Amino acid sequence: MRIDVVSIFPEYLAPLELSLIGKARQDGLLDLHVHDLRAFTTDRHRTVDDTPYGGGAGMVMKAEPWAQALASVAGEGSGTKPVLIVPSPAGERFTQALAYELAEEEQLVFACGRYEGIDERVIEWAAEHFTVRPVSLGDYVLNGGEVAVLAMVEAIGRLLPGVVGNPESLVEESHSDGLLEYPVYTKPSVWRDREVPAVLLSGNHGKIAQWRRHQQYRRTAERRPDLLETFDAGKLPRADRTA
Ligand code: ADE
Repeated sequence: MRIDVVSIFPEYLAPLELSLIGKARQDGLLDLHVHDLRAFTTDRHRTVDDTPYGGGAGMVMKAEPWAQALASVAGEGSGTKPVLIVPSPAGERFTQALAYELAEEEQLVFACGRYEGIDERVIEWAAEHFTVRPVSLGDYVLNGGEVAVLAMVEAIGRLLPGVVGNPESLVEESHSDGLLEYPVYTKPSVWRDREVPAVLLSGNHGKIAQWRRHQQYRRTAERRPDLLETFDAGKLPRADRTA
């Protein structure tokens, strides 16, 4: 997969050189490029923003540097229309399901807005060259798209083939099947008078699976009851189905 990120703070994306994503890049599994929006300005001050038409607080990002930057990265993938992700609190919610969907794409381009956002005409123009998706990390406001991009690239990147060493670990994690993940424990079996649940030491794999499934359900009901509204109760142990 190819990923291009355009930002006025390219240094913000430095963590993408570390850990699993950094290794995926080194291994050639992820071809990631970060671009400085100011490199696409033509004036002496490298201006990227201006006052909003209609008045109001803050500044708006100018259309032309964005159009130049986006045109320069469009088609750097293998030919299919790239997906342009515009991080914004006004976008659709980023979920594990969307991460899986985006992990199938040939090229993703992330446009990190700052200030009050990007001139809307860029978004309209971009639709000719990209599949445009405004995406929100959650219902809160960040100072810009960079932190959202760090989160999304990590969530998407780890789903690419070969990035996570043991692909089994992707199967049993939170949100992979609509529930939160079960609690985990490691040695010692007693720590500060607290014991690991006995079933986990029983060696009975059927019982362990059943216990874990129940814990997933309990946790989800307690912390994220909204997830149960769309969850297929038939996938739960019988005792949890009607609770
Ligand atoms: N930019 C500012 N706030 C954001 C959010 N909640 N999600 C994605 N991008 C953002």
